[in-house]
Amino acid sequence: MCGIVGILGRGPVAEQLVESLKRLEYRGYDSAGVATLEGDHLERRRAEGKLKNLEARLSGDPLSGHTGIGHTRWATHGKPTESNAHPHATDNVAIVHNGIIENFRELRAELEQNGASFASETDTEVVAHLVESHLKNGYSPQDAVKASLPRLRGAFALAFLFKGHNDLMIGARKGSPLAIGHGDGEMYLGSDAIALAPFTDTITYLEDGDWVVLTRTIGVIYDSNGAVAHRETLKSGASSFLVDRANYRHFMAKEIHEQTEVVGQTLARYVDMTAKRIALPFELPFDFNDIGRISITACGTASYAGHVAKYWFERLARMPVEIDVASELRYREAPLRKGDLAIVISQSGETADTLAALRYAKAQGLHTVSVVNVPTSTIARESETVLPTLAGPEIGVASTKAFTCQLMVMAALAIAAGKERGELSDIDEMKFVGELIEVPRLIAAALAIEPQIEKLALDIAKSSAVLYLGRGTSFPLALEGALKLKEISYIHAEGYAAGELKHGPIALIDESMPVVVIAPYDRVFEKTVSNMQEVAARGGNIILMTDATGASEATVDSLATIVLPDMASTFTPMVYAIPVQLLAYHTAVVMGTDVDQPRNLAKSVTVE
Ligand code: AGP
Repeated sequence: MCGIVGILGRGPVAEQLVESLKRLEYRGYDSAGVATLEGDHLERRRAEGKLKNLEARLSGDPLSGHTGIGHTRWATHGKPTESNAHPHATDNVAIVHNGIIENFRELRAELEQNGASFASETDTEVVAHLVESHLKNGYSPQDAVKASLPRLRGAFALAFLFKGHNDLMIGARKGSPLAIGHGDGEMYLGSDAIALAPFTDTITYLEDGDWVVLTRTIGVIYDSNGAVAHRETLKSGASSFLVDRANYRHFMAKEIHEQTEVVGQTLARYVDMTAKRIALPFELPFDFNDIGRISITACGTASYAGHVAKYWFERLARMPVEIDVASELRYREAPLRKGDLAIVISQSGETADTLAALRYAKAQGLHTVSVVNVPTSTIARESETVLPTLAGPEIGVASTKAFTCQLMVMAALAIAAGKERGELSDIDEMKFVGELIEVPRLIAAALAIEPQIEKLALDIAKSSAVLYLGRGTSFPLALEGALKLKEISYIHAEGYAAGELKHGPIALIDESMPVVVIAPYDRVFEKTVSNMQEVAARGGNIILMTDATGASEATVDSLATIVLPDMASTFTPMVYAIPVQLLAYHTAVVMGTDVDQPRNLAKSVTVE
C-alpha cells in the first residue's frame, strides 16, 4: 500500500505534491519521489526513507514544472532504495503506482526480450516500459495506456505523465483506490480525498476497471470496456488541515487520549442518551429475526474488535457468529447463506483483504454492513449499510481510538439485535445502554493510571517476549495487546485464551517472561486466578489488569497490579483497552522505536 498523487497545475507543482504526500505517508513511508515535466523532458527527484529526505533533495535541486506526479512507498517488490522508489520512468513516460502487478515477471521478460532495459527491481516499472513500447509503435498516450491496461493482472492505482504533453495526465484504477480532484483550472489525482484536501473538496472516485484522461479543464472516464463512464462527483469532508500532534510527542499518544471524546461522540451517534435506548443512525435494510448467522471479518486490530463483538452478539442477541480474518474468509470458501449478515470492520476502509472478503460475502447474497472510520472509503461505498465510527483521522499506524470506537458501534448493534429478536426487554436495553453511557467516563478514569504504566514499561522493555492472557471478551483483548506491543516495540508477544495456557504455552513461562493478565472481576475471574497461580508457581512475572475487587481477590503475587475503575462486566474491553494501549506505547518509547510509523508497516494495507 502506497500513496499516489498527480497535479495538472497552473504553477509549479513540486511543493504541492510533497504537501499531498505528507497526507499519504500513513499509507507507506519507506521512500518517496516526484516527477515533473520540465520543458520537453521528464525530471525526477527520489529519496530513500522518510519524506523529509525527499524535501531535502528538492530544496537542493528544485523542480519548476506545472505538471507532476508523486509517490510515497511501502515496498512490495524490491528493497526500499532510491532506485526502487517511484516515479518510474522511461524516455517518454513517468508513472506512480499503488498495488501489485502480479504478472510482472512474465511482462518484464517479454519487454526485455524486445530490448527494454530495467533500472529497478519493482513490479511497477514494467508498466512504464509496456506503455513506452506502444508509444514507440506510434500510439498516442491514451491509446498506449488503453492497450497496456488489459495486460496487467493484480491491483493497481496508476498515474501517468507523458513527455511533451504538459496538459495531460492519465489515471487508472483496479483494486486500489483512486480519486479525481476538480480544481479551478487545475486537475488532480490522488489515492484518497485526504491527499487532495489541500487543493479541492470536489472529488470523483473511480470504480474498479475505470481509467481517466485528464487535462486541466476536463476529465473523461472510461470503464473497463472502454465506454465513456459517468461517476458521481461529491463533496469530500476530508479536512484540509494536516492533523497535528497538538502537544503530544506522538500521534499515537494523542489518539489514545482522544478516546474519551471520540468514543463519546460515537456513542452519541448510536444511542438516545435520555431515553437510554439504542438509536442507530438509520433503519437497517434487514430484520435481525431473518438473520441465521452473522459473519464478522476484518484484519488486525479491527478483527479483534470483531472477535469481542462475537461474544456480545452471542450473549445479548443469542445469534451464532463466525469471526474470520479477512485474508482467510474467501480462500476457505466459507459456506455463507444468502440473506444472512456479513459485518466488515475497517478503520481505513481500504484494506484489500477486508474489501475482498466484503465482495465475497456480497457475491454469496449476504446483507453487508461495514463499520468504518472513513465513510467515503471503498469498503464503505461497496457496502449495503455503513455504520461510521467517529474516531476522526487516525494517523498513528497502531490503531487505538478506532478500535474502541469500533467496539462501541458493535456493542450498540448487538443490543439492537437482541432487542429486535426479543432476547432483550426494554429494561435490559436500558440497562445495557446505561452501561455504554458510562464508558467515556471510565476511559477517562483508566487514562489516569498512565504514570504507573509508564514505570512498568521500563520492565517490559527489558523482555524478549511477553504473554497476554484473557478469558471471555478479555481473550480478544489479549490478542490485541500482543499485537500492539509487537508492532510498535518489536518485542515478540503472544495473546492466548487464559485457559489454553496449560495446553502448551506454559512451557514458555520463566522469570524472564512477563505475563499480562487481563481480568476484570467477572464470572470467569476465579478461573483466571488459577491460571495466574500456574504462572506464579513457575516463577512467571504477572502484570494483572483488574479492578479493585479483582485486586483484593487475586491471591497471587504479581509484578504489578493495574487497578481499573469498577464497571459492569459486559463492555470491559472498551476500558481495558486503555492500559493495553498505554503499555505498548510507553514500552515503544523506552525502546526508542518510531512509534507512529513502525518499521515495515503502513497504516492501510491495500495489497493482499
Ligand atoms: C493495527 O494496530 C494495525 N496497524 C493493523 O493490524 C490494522 O488494524 C489492520 O491493518 C486493519 O486495518 P483497517 O482497520 O484499516 O482495515
